[in-house]
Amino acid sequence: MQVFVTGASGVMGRSVVVALLGAGHDVRALARSGEQAGRLQDDGVEPVVGGLFDPDGLVVAFSGCDVVCNLASHVPAGFAAVRPGAWRVGDRIRGEGSRVVAQAARAAGVRRFVQESASLLYADGGDQWLTEDSPIAVNRATEPLAMAETHAQEFTDGTRHHVVLRFGSIVGDDDYTRWRLARARSGQPVAYGAPDGWMHVINAEDVGTAVLAALTAPAGTYNVGAEPVRRRDLAQLLTHAVGRDRSRFLTRPLLRLGGERVEMLTRSHRVSSRAFCRATGWKPRHGELSTEWVLPGRSGQRRRRLAALGDAYASRSADDSDEGWSEGGWSDGNDRDDDLRREVPPHH
Ligand SMILES: NC(=O)c1ccc[n+]([C@@H]2O[C@H](COP(=O)([O-])OP(=O)(O)OC[C@H]3O[C@@H](n4cnc5c(N)ncnc54)[C@H](OP(=O)(O)O)[C@@H]3O)[C@@H](O)[C@H]2O)c1
Repeated sequence: MQVFVTGASGVMGRSVVVALLGAGHDVRALARSGEQAGRLQDDGVEPVVGGLFDPDGLVVAFSGCDVVCNLASHVPAGFAAVRPGAWRVGDRIRGEGSRVVAQAARAAGVRRFVQESASLLYADGGDQWLTEDSPIAVNRATEPLAMAETHAQEFTDGTRHHVVLRFGSIVGDDDYTRWRLARARSGQPVAYGAPDGWMHVINAEDVGTAVLAALTAPAGTYNVGAEPVRRRDLAQLLTHAVGRDRSRFLTRPLLRLGGERVEMLTRSHRVSSRAFCRATGWKPRHGELSTEWVLPGRSGQRRRRLAALGDAYASRSADDSDEGWSEGGWSDGNDRDDDLRREVPPHH
């Protein structure tokens, strides 16, 4: 098939390009600069230089494609996510960009539209398993995801199909994981929410094979991820991965001040990906979270690289702390509210 990918240079996109090319598909992708186009070309992708918000340009770019996979996103990592305006670009990409891309795909005669989404949309489910029928909780933070899903659904008619993939949180060789590893290295909290709450996680490598499976999946919305993990276990894994003992959680009062952007990250999501596995035969290569996800190979060279990255991110964390964010233990109950107030940035 001829497949178009937006966001091909990203963490998800790179994984998708590898999986699609590996399965013998022809891949065309949106590039935002000539330099990026060159890199895509080197990887065996046909680049089209253009913009996500240019309907006419997209119709031309999508012409002759069987499928469009919309993976463009802009998700700030770490405390950058709570800075004023941090989500303006990302919200526009998901909320408005998804509409422009889906409509251009229709106009270009594309038959299938695959839209990335996230299981963060679900309401807190406690210990209950969450399926695609479970209630979602839409607020200002999750609304752009819900809009992207709606735009994908509007693509479908008698002859065209959409597939929405509600991915778990990416854990692996990505900015957010590196930020958390750096915090763990410097003894700072690495997790939000109740330690016994659940997280739906996915290894970036499995994003690619899931999108590949979505090319032939029955139309619909699917959860996609590995086995959910307790937050405590993920926090411990990150902490142990960098050679430290005690994992720490951000405090509850501080989380409240982080507003809806942080609230969505604290929901308990014991999400089942069974429907997608059954419908497509897809199985994550990384079915259960392990240290290998964040320290693949565990080779000395890889560890040294991570340590170096950790240093770089640790200094970024220090910058964040300068803005007032700090931390304590969620479950220990030993935090002092006056300390927290002092540490909360003025814009919250
Ligand atoms: N389900 C999830 O957990 C989830 C979902 C999304 C993101 N994330 C987080 O985000 C990180 C990586 O995920 P990702 O692959 O989505 O993000 P990413 O690595 O930042 O890649 C984003 C992609 O979207 C493109 N893009 C950004 N702005 C664009 C615009 N205005 N027009 C067109 N394309 C644009 C980027 O292109 P350029 O290279 O030109 O910037 C890039 O290809 C991870 O740290 C992950 O934790 C998580």
